[in-house]
Amino acid sequence: MTVRRSVILGCGSYLPHQVLTNEDLARKVDTSDEWIVQRTGIHERRIAAPGELTSQMATNAARSALAHARLDAQSIDLIVLATSTPDNTFPASAVSVQADLGITRGAAFDLQAVCSGFVYGLATADALLKSGAYSRALVIGAETFSRILDWTDRSTCVLFGDGAGAVVLEAQQQPETREARGILSVHLRSDGRYKSKLYVDGGPSSTGTVGHLRMEGREVFRHAVAMITDVVMDAFKATGYTADDVDWFIPHQANKRIIDGSAHKLGIAPAKIVTTVDRHGNTSAASIPLALADALAERRIKRGDLLLFEAMGGGFTWGAALVRW
Ligand code: UT7
Repeated sequence: MTVRRSVILGCGSYLPHQVLTNEDLARKVDTSDEWIVQRTGIHERRIAAPGELTSQMATNAARSALAHARLDAQSIDLIVLATSTPDNTFPASAVSVQADLGITRGAAFDLQAVCSGFVYGLATADALLKSGAYSRALVIGAETFSRILDWTDRSTCVLFGDGAGAVVLEAQQQPETREARGILSVHLRSDGRYKSKLYVDGGPSSTGTVGHLRMEGREVFRHAVAMITDVVMDAFKATGYTADDVDWFIPHQANKRIIDGSAHKLGIAPAKIVTTVDRHGNTSAASIPLALADALAERRIKRGDLLLFEAMGGGFTWGAALVRW
């Protein structure tokens, strides 16, 4: 017996060149390296160059994922770009990626679930691939949060960074065994009662402006670990796996304390946690594929490893996925 699964064939990333350190920030707002490191684990983040677009970073990450998978862009028939910082209100930045890659078939669209965008993107592409409608997809997370930050607000501007990560997914018939590769289970949640805890104070139908990110950090923090562990438990229940079976925990990178707290509550050993928040800050929808690319570059992940992705962010939205590499 076989089952149709979405298998990750490659992963790639792109980071803008400019590094912004905590010391740099301490010269702009009333903060310190000590405060930022202690509260978040962040040491530095990358900032997009003037004029550098989300779609350009997404295209760079997509090219790197295609090279890793040894595939030509022409074989892609679906592009899902998770972003809250698109180039324009419309068209979707995904169609710019499609055009930049020279692809003229299939479909490309943006998906907006803030920091959970990559997990939402995986779930969406997985469903479309499993339905038989498409055969090979790029799922990309790309953000230029530096453009929506209030650089005078020390409670938010120290937390975020820019970057992009991408995976190539292919629909494959896999044997129905525990060892079979691909996305095993994805679980998505949202609860709009929390929409004012983390939001942007502008938009096309409200103010007609782009707006700035606003967050009640303590409130987000208060809910994060419980929401994350809850949806991860859904993934464990659906698959029969436990924390002991997980080889690599690749969480959304918002705050080292949230990552470590979630791993601790789930019973995942610290050595299995992939952490990039120290170097990238919170890159929203880009953080999971950036962390995955980082772990792959360090040759930490082997074929057959069980990966756990999770994310939580604005909305609130949250989600988790179990993937056999
Ligand atoms: O991707 C998902 C979205 N975001 C998140 O997951 C973020 C979730 N929240 C957090 O990570 C944390 O709540 C923060 C890192 C944002 C803040 O840490 P905290 O331990 O919750 O600090 P706090 O908000 O309770 O603030 C403590 C103090 C405050 O001063 P008072 O009121 O106690 O006098 C802040 O004004 O720290 C002050 N503060 C700062 N001080 C120096 C806030 N930002 C800064 C700063 N530098 N950058």
